[in-house]
Amino acid sequence: MADEPLVLGIETSCDETGVGIVRGHTLLADAIASSVDEHARYGGVVPEVASRAHLEAMVPTIRRALKQAGVSARDLDGIAVTAGPGLAGALLVGVSAAKAYAYALGKPLYGVNHLASHICVDQLEHGALPEPTMALLVSGGHSSLLLAPDITGDVRPLGATIDDAAGEAFDKVARVLGLGFPGGPVIDRYAREGDPAAIAFPRGLTGGRDPLYDFSFSGLKTAVARWVEARRRDGHEVPVADVAASFQEAVVDVLTRKAIRACKDNGVDHLMIGGGVAANSRLRSLALERCEGAGIRLRVPRPGLCTDNGAMVAALGAEMVARGRAASAFDLPADSSLPLTEVSVPGLPAQAHPGHDGGHGHAHGRDHDHLHEPVKGNLYG
Ligand code: KG4
Ligand code: ZN
Repeated sequence: MADEPLVLGIETSCDETGVGIVRGHTLLADAIASSVDEHARYGGVVPEVASRAHLEAMVPTIRRALKQAGVSARDLDGIAVTAGPGLAGALLVGVSAAKAYAYALGKPLYGVNHLASHICVDQLEHGALPEPTMALLVSGGHSSLLLAPDITGDVRPLGATIDDAAGEAFDKVARVLGLGFPGGPVIDRYAREGDPAAIAFPRGLTGGRDPLYDFSFSGLKTAVARWVEARRRDGHEVPVADVAASFQEAVVDVLTRKAIRACKDNGVDHLMIGGGVAANSRLRSLALERCEGAGIRLRVPRPGLCTDNGAMVAALGAEMVARGRAASAFDLPADSSLPLTEVSVPGLPAQAHPGHDGGHGHAHGRDHDHLHEPVKGNLYG
């Protein structure tokens, strides 16, 4: 164990300042400072507020993580940081801090992809991920089905949401019901008291001619809003628990159905579910039930590791070190729309200039392919 890589990971892509420390697959520290309360009254994450909060929380959170892990920064084998995707200003704070620490300490720097980190975190809970891994990533900013033959370098998108992310749908429906932000945990709680079959809400993109692995939650969100409006207009009370349970059932029914289909079609006999929505109790129980029925092994990290945190970034960083993957250059950019096929970022090529991508770097102005997804839901998106 002592010769496994000791890595510190920094996550600032949204509203959580996360700093985690791992040794190989062992979690040593998971320190988090969240600005969620500062965003609650706006009903979504305000990017400038998040960036400022990261700036204030960064150094104390790093100190807290080192203390919790009982290690000295000098002992680290590397510093990993979320390079994207996420909110540009928020990412920049984390990337700048990682560079400063790595430079001052003389340690290698690893700029990694937020989504690949959401997959890799499961190693801290269930040990080495089998490869290829099938991953269903569901959070406030992304909903994707991914096939990962190599979690440190080869992640292939099979499908993604064509409109809202799953977590975004939870947040918006919670707003319609007047339940506050973030919506996922509170809908999860109400749904426990409700009847999931009370209202037949639509299942997006499940028709015979629809794309097999893509998702759509915008129609569902609208259907819930219309249903609630009609009810209020008629002067009836809204059965919040039944609406929450029926909405939640529509989301998790489609997510699990498509994920299992992807496993079967690709001959993969295990499924990993990650991202904030993977904390959902009904998603976990229905996925387990359906995986058991299909002979698929299910891996879902505990809820605290599903939502954004620094440990997941450290986990991917440690895997990169263990496999001898190249570190990032110190001119590593924060890339708000980093495609999920780019598990790590090598940094700008030596003589890059704006508008020109030397083939492996991230010069400005390059065309992103259609595979990446929008940044997290926030007031402006
Ligand atoms: O991964 P995450 O912490 O941040 C992003 O990368 O987006 O995910 C946050 C999202 C929010 O939309 C939140 O409502 C949702 O995850 N979420 C949940 C639950 N806990 C968090 N959704 C459904 N059920 C939950 N228990
Ligand atoms: Zn996330």
